[in-house]
Amino acid sequence: MGRRYDLAVFGATGFTGRQAARYLAAHPERESYRFALAARSQEKLEALVAELTGDGLSADGVIVADALDGEAMDGLAAAARVVLSTAGPFARYGSELVRACVEHRTDYVDITGETPWVREMIDRHHERAARDGTRIVPCCGFDSIPSDLGALYVAEALHRETGARCSRVHAYHRGRGGINGGTVASLVEMQRGGGARRMRDLFLLNPEDRRPRSQSGHGDPVAPFYSSEAKSWAAPFFMGPINTRVVRRSHALLQGTERGDLFADDFRYQEYWKAKGPLGFAEAGAFAFGQGMAQLGSALPGASRLIEAVAADPGEGPSEATMDGGFFSCDLYAEGDPPPGAGAGRARRHSRLHGQGDPGNRITIKCLCESALLLALEREQLPSSPGGGVLTPATALGLALVPRLERAGIEFG
Ligand SMILES: NC(=O)c1ccc[n+]([C@@H]2O[C@H](COP(=O)([O-])OP(=O)(O)OC[C@H]3O[C@@H](n4cnc5c(N)ncnc54)[C@H](OP(=O)(O)O)[C@@H]3O)[C@@H](O)[C@H]2O)c1
Repeated sequence: MGRRYDLAVFGATGFTGRQAARYLAAHPERESYRFALAARSQEKLEALVAELTGDGLSADGVIVADALDGEAMDGLAAAARVVLSTAGPFARYGSELVRACVEHRTDYVDITGETPWVREMIDRHHERAARDGTRIVPCCGFDSIPSDLGALYVAEALHRETGARCSRVHAYHRGRGGINGGTVASLVEMQRGGGARRMRDLFLLNPEDRRPRSQSGHGDPVAPFYSSEAKSWAAPFFMGPINTRVVRRSHALLQGTERGDLFADDFRYQEYWKAKGPLGFAEAGAFAFGQGMAQLGSALPGASRLIEAVAADPGEGPSEATMDGGFFSCDLYAEGDPPPGAGAGRARRHSRLHGQGDPGNRITIKCLCESALLLALEREQLPSSPGGGVLTPATALGLALVPRLERAGIEFG
């Protein structure tokens, strides 16, 4: 395609962007690709280049571009085969870049969790990107790769081992980490733009003609309960309203493709926080109560100003020790009806994903950068259908991403 770079990191001078820049500069496959650092500030880009050089690392170039300047976004999209973006809030800074990537047929990945904005991008660009075979893939961070790829992974294992089509997956998350100023800014942006109301739509990201007739059994959980499959107390997971919508879009887009057979038509996905130990009941109760209060509180006038005042500023985030000391785990339980003649009883499969490091930073950077590298270096490994559109990690990248994440230290079992 005659592009100057295989990859460009946009937002490279932000908290997650700097980590992505370093990850790509130090990657074992570094000699296989040319990559650029892109951001709005020449001065900050120079400082980042100097920092990398000081550690014996390098990028192949820099691109100065403001997210709100359409021409600059065209230049960025035309310069690389794949753009990865960490410039958020995405509802504020992301739309021109996605437009430019669609127009220049440049594959795109980001780490947004702003599902109302993703819905807008679907409405504006899915059709053209699908026609051109361009993969626009939001939600490639901790939200929502472990959930979305995890559901596909466990459904494929269930189908391979028993022949069953997966009719439901329950995911139970645990983790430890910090929170970035940029994440808080994005939450506040969503709150101000009426996003909280739109996020209540259980099928926010589904194609309009592929919403189930009945929503019964899909509702967001609100109360703690004892889970016999996870053998622990569980509570609603605060990222469930993001991840469940992404997994449901994956299921809807896979219907009618060669991977459609993995899932039953009435597939259901739900996720929870997994409480642990003898005080699991108390932990699950506190988790559910805390989230309920946060939801009520965030709807009060002036709440976003208060959150901004007490939280970290954009550009800031947890310490290196917090990011290194974090972890995530995700236990996925799949069920389905075995094919006729295969014996009585439901078919079941349990899978577990686990990774060391803060979910919102270390894990997010691995998920984002390995997704981009898969698009740039191994496009032939990608699922052929759907071959383009505003997609999800599971539909755009599929199980081809698993070996890359495993090599990066994320376990799938
Ligand atoms: N999916 C996940 O698990 C996950 C995890 C972490 C973060 N996130 C999301 O990722 C986003 C970034 O987080 P962060 O912690 O890295 O935030 P951050 O440090 O505030 O970074 C934001 C970046 O956007 C850039 N930017 C702002 N306005 C711009 C403009 N007009 N033109 C070009 N660039 C502009 C900033 O540039 P300057 O450097 O010049 O200020 C900065 O590089 C947030 O939306 C956050 O919610 C998602």
